[in-house]
Amino acid sequence: MTRIAVLISGGGSNMVALVRAMQAGGWAEPVLVLANDPDAGGLEKARSMGVPIAAVDHRDFKGDRPAFEKALSDALATAQPDILCLAGFMRVLTADFVAQWAGRMLNIHPSLLPKYKGLQTHARALDAGDLQHGCTVHEVTSELDDGPILGQATLDVAPDDTPETLATRVLPLEHALYPRVLERFVAGDKTLLSLRDVNVD
Ligand code: GRF
Repeated sequence: MTRIAVLISGGGSNMVALVRAMQAGGWAEPVLVLANDPDAGGLEKARSMGVPIAAVDHRDFKGDRPAFEKALSDALATAQPDILCLAGFMRVLTADFVAQWAGRMLNIHPSLLPKYKGLQTHARALDAGDLQHGCTVHEVTSELDDGPILGQATLDVAPDDTPETLATRVLPLEHALYPRVLERFVAGDKTLLSLRDVNVD
């Protein structure tokens, strides 16, 4: 069965959605949840779901990215994943690390890429007066938030939306989109999946 490692930095709500979907559907196995912060809330959630966990604290490497990534790779090697899912993982990965996982690493980003790569996506969508917003699952390449798009989920921006309310409304779309895209990706299907907020259960 395809082995999936999920990388997180914080609460891991996307990781929870992925793990739940894999455990319910049986189409892949979550073999590791790996955080760059030993205090990441998602680690306890993963442990309670029976998934092996590990943490590599990026602060122990004082900016030495290659050393940090070597430690990540060592932690991953214990689980032997086939695919990496970045899920609220907030560290930028070097081109060398990305190259090792080319075609086998996904990420979810809270905007309709290619719009709003980087941070503060909800505020930027509001500032631009966008009528639609949402999230994207894409393959990770060395260019930040730039790889081939595998799925998008969209919602209508409300006139009274704030960055906070948008983030709150986009998050459930992320939880609906990511597991569906991962299941298709595991099956070798890279055709674009488009979801609207009306058909997200
Ligand atoms: C989400 O908005 C995700 O898109 C972004 O980080 C936020 C928190 O994700 N990358 P999670 O709850 O840790 O999965």
